[in-house]
Amino acid sequence: MTAIGLYYGTSTGNTEDAAEQIQKAFDALKPGMVTLIDVMKQDLSGMTTFDGLILGIPTWNDGELQSDWEDAISQMDDLDLQGKQVALFGLGDENGYPDTYQDAMGILARKARERGAELVGFWPTEGYNFEVSQAVEDGHFLGLALDNDVTPELTADRIKQWVQQVAIEFGVITNAESVVV
Ligand SMILES: Cc1cc2nc3c(=O)[nH]c(=O)nc-3n(C[C@H](O)[C@H](O)[C@H](O)COP(=O)(O)O)c2cc1C
Repeated sequence: MTAIGLYYGTSTGNTEDAAEQIQKAFDALKPGMVTLIDVMKQDLSGMTTFDGLILGIPTWNDGELQSDWEDAISQMDDLDLQGKQVALFGLGDENGYPDTYQDAMGILARKARERGAELVGFWPTEGYNFEVSQAVEDGHFLGLALDNDVTPELTADRIKQWVQQVAIEFGVITNAESVVV
């Protein structure tokens, strides 16, 4: 069985809510695969024990990492993530912060890649309204961009669709097993 570690940090609960929804969506495909880890409560050393990783991070303070991730991220410098698949999701606010939209997801994605990880779970930028984002590369987000400030009504469907995509990329299900959301 594929073991997936979902590491998240949150300041006001939105990223935790999304993490729980992602876990539930994976459970609907194959139960018990995803372990949730709040980076405020547990260090990052266990990352290497999982087959795949999902990292969830909101952007705070005009383009900065959420504070628990800020405290923890240097631990990644000691980790070898060579060949490990890592999918990211971010929380942001496209109206309030159009010039630093989802920046933290981009910063964390680059750190994971620097440690050798293979990034998966890229997401189109169509339908979002922002100016600049460090989370965008080659015309797509480096992970799932969620926006509970501006488009909360889209979050549930975005998560369902993204989880199917990532489950295929992780090799948890095949294309044929995916269901139309
Ligand atoms: C003071 C403040 C600064 C923020 N800065 C950014 C930002 O630079 N970019 C962005 O996309 N969102 C920004 N946000 C929006 C948060 O990322 C968003 O509200 C998110 O859902 C919070 O997630 P959390 O509840 O998991 O902490 C900011 C919010 C606040 C209150």
